[in-house]
Amino acid sequence: MAKHTHTRRSLLALGGAAALTACTRTAYDLTDDAPAPGSGFVSPDGPEVAAAERGRATNGTVREVRLTAVEGPVELGGGRSVRTWSYGGEVPGREIRLTAGDTLAATLTNHLPDTTSAHWHGLALRNDMDGVPDLTQPPIGAGAEFSYRFAVERPGTYWFHPHTGVQLDRGLYAPLIVADPREPMPYDKEWTVVLDDWLDGIDGSTPDSVMAELMGGPAARPSRMLTDAKSMLLGGDTGHVAYPLYLINGRTPDDPSVFAARPGDRIRIRFINAGGDSPFRVALGGHRMTVTHTDGFPVSHADTDALLIGMGERYDVLVTAGDGVFPLTALAEGKDASALAVLRTSPGGAVPVAGTRPAELDGVLVTADRLRADESVRLPDPGRAADRTVRLTLTGSMDAHDWAFDRQPYDHHHSAPHAVRAGERVRIEFANHTRMWHPVHLHGHTFSLGRDGARKDTAVVLPGQSLSVDLDADNPGLWMLHCHNIYHSEAGMMTVLGYQP
Ligand code: C2O
Ligand code: CU
Repeated sequence: MAKHTHTRRSLLALGGAAALTACTRTAYDLTDDAPAPGSGFVSPDGPEVAAAERGRATNGTVREVRLTAVEGPVELGGGRSVRTWSYGGEVPGREIRLTAGDTLAATLTNHLPDTTSAHWHGLALRNDMDGVPDLTQPPIGAGAEFSYRFAVERPGTYWFHPHTGVQLDRGLYAPLIVADPREPMPYDKEWTVVLDDWLDGIDGSTPDSVMAELMGGPAARPSRMLTDAKSMLLGGDTGHVAYPLYLINGRTPDDPSVFAARPGDRIRIRFINAGGDSPFRVALGGHRMTVTHTDGFPVSHADTDALLIGMGERYDVLVTAGDGVFPLTALAEGKDASALAVLRTSPGGAVPVAGTRPAELDGVLVTADRLRADESVRLPDPGRAADRTVRLTLTGSMDAHDWAFDRQPYDHHHSAPHAVRAGERVRIEFANHTRMWHPVHLHGHTFSLGRDGARKDTAVVLPGQSLSVDLDADNPGLWMLHCHNIYHSEAGMMTVLGYQP
């Protein structure tokens, strides 16, 4: 195959998905003439990765799941149907529920008119099952299938989505909940709440047309550009895409999903932001929330009225249900629109109307930097000095849509990984030189915000500020590190952390 010198911008000009599909060289494709940028690093299918997998504690249970990525109509509530891409015709896709120690065997069949993949967001899994096309596996061609199989060691709230182009901003996402066989926290019910911003199939918009418009292509009609979504909490612009709809569990606010419980029930709510370009501020009317976990890992419990959840982040909270009918509102921060779900514990009482804005949204708001990791999940020896520091500058602007790390838009054929070695304590220092916030996400690991701060895989970096995180390099392979704004990562705000043998 010829050398690839297209920039992502020229690929878009060539027609996006089709041109990307034509690129089949992978980081581990040894038949190519030039050395891949991943050479000199542990290969996703190398012996180190297999050895790490053998070291994972499993219980012998294999959970088999069949996933089918399809194009077709999906009902979003209120009789509104859109044509989109989804897992099995449902948005969100059906929740996968495991117990820590299980092995997940998931076969994904691709009936989309494009290649795809499934990435298991937040799991410290074996690298060759991480679902990043051209880095950890070949793209799954249209009509083809791929079998994922990996041990899942830790409990928590996770989710999965494709790692191909901007497919995440269609309906291709679903929760992945891993129960703790020794769950220490008493509660009566669980409610998974998946937040999303939606435009696919509305008046002809697709995530690809929006990406083209953001990259300076011809203005789409209707335009989905947004230049005035501002938030004090996020220090500036919150996003640049105007979505016609905001959803909770795949429903529009005029026909919300209703969760039934009894007064006094302790409910564990698992929030997942599956949005493409929208941070959500969430609150449950009439209730305080106790934050118990973020990104799957327990924290010292903290009470709050509201939470601000960046794309890719998860929060688990406990609430004690009151008696009545309550709005769970997710405000698209800075975008002057919201999604709605309803908690109902008594038969009487009308369902809250769309746009309901509970006072708790403007109450106390605990941010991740204020949380402390539960002692059970602190990094061992938190005072240990970093063996290596990886410094990343977040660069780019809305006008040029040239989002990147260190001004180098990611290109999997040419971008060299940032080297780490197994056993190291690695510090990553993010310096945000842009004028907006970014939710940065690392695959295959959970870092610590400061010494004993929350353990997370996705963290907010505010404009003009820095964030320093520590992790133990204990999962060999090639791991993506990127902004979870799908339009930023696709523009190039991605890089790779690579283990050297
Ligand atoms: Cu939600 Cu690279 O992932
Ligand atoms: Cu970003």
